[in-house]
Amino acid sequence: MAEIKVVSDFSELNRAAATLFQQRAGAAVQSKDSFVVALSGGSTPKGLFSQLASNPENLPWRQMYFFWGDERHVPPDHPESNYHMAYETLLSRVPVAPENVLRIPAEHPDATRVAEQYEQTLKKFFHLRPGQLPRFDLMLQGLGPDGHTASLFPGSPALHERSRLVAANWVEKLNAYRITLTVPVIKHAACVLFLVSGKEKKQAFEAVLDPDSSADQFPAKLVCPMNGELIWLVDREVMPDQMRVSSREN
Ligand code: 6PG
Repeated sequence: MAEIKVVSDFSELNRAAATLFQQRAGAAVQSKDSFVVALSGGSTPKGLFSQLASNPENLPWRQMYFFWGDERHVPPDHPESNYHMAYETLLSRVPVAPENVLRIPAEHPDATRVAEQYEQTLKKFFHLRPGQLPRFDLMLQGLGPDGHTASLFPGSPALHERSRLVAANWVEKLNAYRITLTVPVIKHAACVLFLVSGKEKKQAFEAVLDPDSSADQFPAKLVCPMNGELIWLVDREVMPDQMRVSSREN
């Protein structure tokens, strides 16, 4: 079941997301002395990352390991790079061990090779046997106005990838490759946390909640955990009107 948490605005979303992040990091480190998180990209997570960097004392940085849910097919110093965004807003400001930051090597010109390399990184880190899936303690996800999440775009080939862990996904409308964790990996996470802010996401969020909408058209519907938590942390601008009225009545 999905849990939907509604907050008033972007700054409250960042605070609430930071609290959730800290809770899960503390619980994971307490139970297995490590916290393994896959970061999302785009712009929404910048607020959370800055919030975490501003309060570094609350997190067990030495036992934290950072992966990415997806990456643009660009070098790590490129302004479009999700790693670059996380480095600037968080990783360069906190005492995380460099060897614990396992970015997608998207500088490699062949996107398929990038996906294969990252898949090997996952298999090695998680000591996976053939057919096993990595289990992230926390998987951050965003929602595009078109209903995409990670780099699983509507109608794109990677939506149907069920055997690979990482895919090089050709995105027609971007005329570019993206590298993305596949649906089975995201669904295997202990907790999938969507961070969604802004009225431009309202229609996509409504569609994702609609049981009759198509997952091919709104891929964020695909990534509900099989055996974990799904939390939608959204601000009021994202809320469908009928839900906004009821939430006001509460
Ligand atoms: C990316 C992201 C992508 C993102 C959504 C929302 O590489 O862009 O991983 O899935 O989360 O596009 O992006 P915004 O937060 O910028 O709206």
